[in-house]
Amino acid sequence: MLEAQTREQLRAVVSNWRRAGQKIALVPTMGNLHEGHLALVAAAREQADRIITSIYVNPAQFAEGEDFGRYPRTLEQDRQQLRAAHCDLLFTPSDQIIYPHGPGDSTSLRAAPSLANILEGASRPGHFDGVVTVVARLFNLASPDVAVFGEKDWQQLVVVRRMTEDLGYSLRIIPVATVRGPGGLALSSRNRYLDIAQQPAAEQLNAVLRWAAERVAAIPGQRAAIEREAHGRLERHGLRVDYVQVVRAEDLAEPEPRDRDLRVLAAVWSGTTRLIDNLPCHVA
Ligand code: PAF
Repeated sequence: MLEAQTREQLRAVVSNWRRAGQKIALVPTMGNLHEGHLALVAAAREQADRIITSIYVNPAQFAEGEDFGRYPRTLEQDRQQLRAAHCDLLFTPSDQIIYPHGPGDSTSLRAAPSLANILEGASRPGHFDGVVTVVARLFNLASPDVAVFGEKDWQQLVVVRRMTEDLGYSLRIIPVATVRGPGGLALSSRNRYLDIAQQPAAEQLNAVLRWAAERVAAIPGQRAAIEREAHGRLERHGLRVDYVQVVRAEDLAEPEPRDRDLRVLAAVWSGTTRLIDNLPCHVA
């Protein structure tokens, strides 16, 4: 596996691949890789000849008081996993490469407000601006043909898709299904903050979302009551609920009676750990 830290190193490799007519996939990550990330790499392999995985913990998408400082950084372990997964190039840019004038004084993007200021964005103002800014920067540096994102961060996927369209990037966004542990908990780097006693309640997040998705698919007219009941069920498991909401899958809008492709999304706190998850909900 090749490695690059600078724009010049990355460009040299990418230019060689381009000259050879190879198709390039980018898998943007913040590291601390788990099976969910490796599924992104595997999906990238199906779409392209060469895979670039980037690891960069992006300060601009963490608000004051969030876990930027303690976000797990496990580069050596990540490197070994990427080698085993046959990633072609690991890109680990420094802050200087991503934000030459510092994150506070760089030109940045504003994510589409109708997508970015609700759900996660309502509780984490500016989060998606930070995400689209770094993702655009990575697109510009790596110029991939496809970029791969996990469905676990459904809102992020929708926001990034819109940014890609709005800014006219000619690349395809490939969504990859969420990878879960045996109890249904979506894999996340933040799961390591959970202690063993918090695990069973955390697993209820997925169980309650499954219940809600099935109920909404069966009786979409009862959506609001189902959201309220799901909220209560999560709280009864000791989870503090930020939101549990059914939205139109493609644009996160409030569903209309004619909409068929919905998504139920939730964010909860287990102690000091924020967990998010979502499931599809197809109305027949
Ligand atoms: O999903 C993530 O890990 C991050 O939000 C991303 C897309 C790598 C941007 O920093």
